[in-house]
Amino acid sequence: MPLSVGVIGTGWVGASVAISVLHAGFASELLLADMRHELAEGEAMDLSHGAPFYTTAGVRAVDVDAMLDTDAVVIAAGRGGKPGESRLDLLRDNADTIRKLAEQFRGYRGLFVVVTNPVDVLTYVAAKSSDLPCERIIGTGTMLDTARLRQVLGHSLRVDPHSVHAQVVGEHGDSEVVLWSSAHVGGTPLREWAGWSPDREAPIATEVRTAAYEIIKRKGATNHAIGLCTAAVLRSVLRDQHQVLTVSRVHPALNGVALSLPTVVGAGGATTVLEPEMSADEKAALNKSAEVLDAAYKSISG
Ligand SMILES: NC(=O)c1ccc[n+]([C@@H]2O[C@H](COP(=O)([O-])OP(=O)(O)OC[C@H]3O[C@@H](n4cnc5c(N)ncnc54)[C@H](O)[C@@H]3O)[C@@H](O)[C@H]2O)c1
Repeated sequence: MPLSVGVIGTGWVGASVAISVLHAGFASELLLADMRHELAEGEAMDLSHGAPFYTTAGVRAVDVDAMLDTDAVVIAAGRGGKPGESRLDLLRDNADTIRKLAEQFRGYRGLFVVVTNPVDVLTYVAAKSSDLPCERIIGTGTMLDTARLRQVLGHSLRVDPHSVHAQVVGEHGDSEVVLWSSAHVGGTPLREWAGWSPDREAPIATEVRTAAYEIIKRKGATNHAIGLCTAAVLRSVLRDQHQVLTVSRVHPALNGVALSLPTVVGAGGATTVLEPEMSADEKAALNKSAEVLDAAYKSISG
């Protein structure tokens, strides 16, 4: 079945999302839009020239209106973080951009994926402004943090990250929570792994939490890993894979806050939210994260 994907915002992140989607091979049509139309055109031309190396897909630069009939649309529009700036500092500028874009997608039949930061608050803004069911508005949330955690743990234990089952939940940002108590490596609880000691946990959590700042300091943006995460969300939806991913969505049971929990992602969107095992400290930290996000949203909705 031909599937079409739109990407709005073709800066660092949008361009990486685009190439990851093409490599993943599930889209037959990739539409790109940017307020700097020439940038989207340039990316479309450049990506088209790689056609002999990926599964056939047409790539075109279009206006946002031309994306209203796509199967999924990714929002990577807005500005990126600056050195020393927290993700919540981006809030006001990017909320305005997402609100206006989401309003254009009222009645949309596809899946809406938010990448722009602060991604959790903007997932909430998109859900509210588009009026779409909350399972069809997915933020990439802590998927990137979870990927970073699995990579760092795999590297430090000398195990392939695919065999590391560990998750980051809550806010994609400073209040995020690593679920150490349920982390497993090949079926063995991490805390029972030979040579593991709890004093390794805080430095790894800090490394994961501050990874973006370290990358931005060096190259000005983060883009490749988030491009791969976004393509994984799209593939799970468009191929109805039912992967469990730590994506962000609005949680009616959590006062309507959008944050990440392990969630089954398939054709219906981010549907079944799992309740992972958590220690009392982790539960308290997750509640704190929800409060931080609620306050962030309230700071712009007054
Ligand atoms: N969720 C995550 O894990 C994650 C990871 C990395 C980056 N990000 C976020 O992704 C966003 C994009 O980052 P970037 O580095 O690509 O920034 P960028 O500045 O390189 O690109 C953003 C693009 O959006 C375009 N744009 C702005 N407003 C627009 C609008 N209304 N319509 C169409 N296009 C518009 C700009 O012209 C620009 O090309 C940032 O908010 C960044 O913080 C999120």
